[in-house]
Amino acid sequence: MRKTIFLLLVIMPMIVTGQRADYKVIPLPASITMDTGNMFELKDGMSIGFKAGNAGVAQTAGFLRDYVEELTGLQLHVIPGGKHCPIELRLVKEKQEAGVADGIFNSRYTMDVGKHGVLIEAPTEEGLFRGVQTLRKSLPVVEKAEVVELPHVSISDEARFGYRGVHLDSSRHFWTVDVVKKYIDQLALHNCNQFHWHLTDDQGWRFEVKALPELAKEGSIREQTVIDRNTGLYDGTPYGGYYTQDELREVVRYAAERYINIIPEIDLPGHMQAALHVYPELGCTGGPYSVWQFWGVSEDVLCAGNPKTIDFLKTVLGELCDIFPSKLIHIGGDECPKVRWKNCAKCQSKATSLGLKDDGKHSIENQLQTWVNHEMESYLKSRGRDIIGWDEVLEGGLTDGGTVMSWRGIEGGIDAARQHHNVIMTPVDYCYIDYYQVKNNWNAPVAIGGYVPASKTYSFEPVPAELNEEEAKYILGPQVNLWCEYVAYPSHLFYMLLPRLDAISEVQWCKPERKDFEDFKQRLEHQKAVYDKLGVNYCRLIE
Ligand code: ACM
Ligand code: ZN
Repeated sequence: MRKTIFLLLVIMPMIVTGQRADYKVIPLPASITMDTGNMFELKDGMSIGFKAGNAGVAQTAGFLRDYVEELTGLQLHVIPGGKHCPIELRLVKEKQEAGVADGIFNSRYTMDVGKHGVLIEAPTEEGLFRGVQTLRKSLPVVEKAEVVELPHVSISDEARFGYRGVHLDSSRHFWTVDVVKKYIDQLALHNCNQFHWHLTDDQGWRFEVKALPELAKEGSIREQTVIDRNTGLYDGTPYGGYYTQDELREVVRYAAERYINIIPEIDLPGHMQAALHVYPELGCTGGPYSVWQFWGVSEDVLCAGNPKTIDFLKTVLGELCDIFPSKLIHIGGDECPKVRWKNCAKCQSKATSLGLKDDGKHSIENQLQTWVNHEMESYLKSRGRDIIGWDEVLEGGLTDGGTVMSWRGIEGGIDAARQHHNVIMTPVDYCYIDYYQVKNNWNAPVAIGGYVPASKTYSFEPVPAELNEEEAKYILGPQVNLWCEYVAYPSHLFYMLLPRLDAISEVQWCKPERKDFEDFKQRLEHQKAVYDKLGVNYCRLIE
């Protein structure tokens, strides 16, 4: 009996004491002023209120209800038009400061917890959504809480960068719509707002083009795939998959609900062997070509001297614009070998008719690529869009109005910013999360090579010290890239993504003085519990 009483005395406080929230989430909010002596108690049956009439806010309120139940077991109600609710989401009028980029302003929110409950306020729907993510990540992870204690707090938060990107390669391996949605869920959890989707490459064309029905049907299937890192042995198994336009529209809608823009990429004029397989007449040699079964960079690229090439690209980009509302459209431009163009009568005759000459800085062929970029740029402008290209687009002289994605280092980004072009920083040494993230990688899931641990990604500073204040404004923000030559299954995909996405999210969101890797690692412990609850894989070793 005495033993039972003793046990009860020990266990009782565990039952009646609520589970407590912790606002030090990833990415860390800009300012947290907490009063740990006072708690608001969140309980079953409480409500989430908001002013009725705004579909986005209603959607976000529904998300919050689901997040709370998922992580704590507490069941809340959503009440459109509900007043004095324990949780309230409120849009407030606030003038946008002149010169502040949209994406930064849009992320702003405040969250106050006091004796009446939780109030999240923001000048935009997106700001409310970001605030809701902070509340979500603050929650304890338990099967079924009786009460969740929310310490009184005042949080004021906004992003450092307006562009917070994450890339995914759906060409080398195909990711189903369900997996892509789970990937987007992770972007939402980390306050990212740009999903750069690499849809086509030598090894598979994944984008349905209605005017060219055989393109995706035939260009999406490679007959077999080389085993491991180009061993010369093949698996003998056809591999394929592509997205219908209906599916793509559904993904665009899904991302938009989470305030994420999708930047689609059609990589041109290189990385096109899958398309050449279907239309060999668009290559300099006329083919035949197979959808590539090998990893690397194919020397067979689109023939720049064939007018049909430009027509083909406009047809593809036209349908791309019909589906993706993004202002920025990625036209690739990386790794386009020039050997075919050098030996192609059509390409050389085009260069002559354009009057291209080697000026000692830019070769004829590099300038020919710039001409292709210009053609795409003016077509996209006619559709109200602007181009992004990988930093190779600088080599033939940069296209006006183009945004540069600096990947081979930060030098391309510095160059572009000095020429007053917008820049996205994604240098391979910090931001290529297809690299290994653990030093002793002998039993880690296979990666392309290299070593980019979370600490390296975390240490990245996207604004180079070389730039003056005026030039620095052209750095829109950082991005991580996940190429998928060696990543073929969802569990591997999320292992590569997490926790390096956590690391980049603090680079994207937090001011440098707010960053501290040791503190980040401690905060990651709670984030791991969230991943476990959501059932997503992640790398356990943090280096
Ligand atoms: C790239 O990694 N080829 C942009
Ligand atoms: Zn050619």
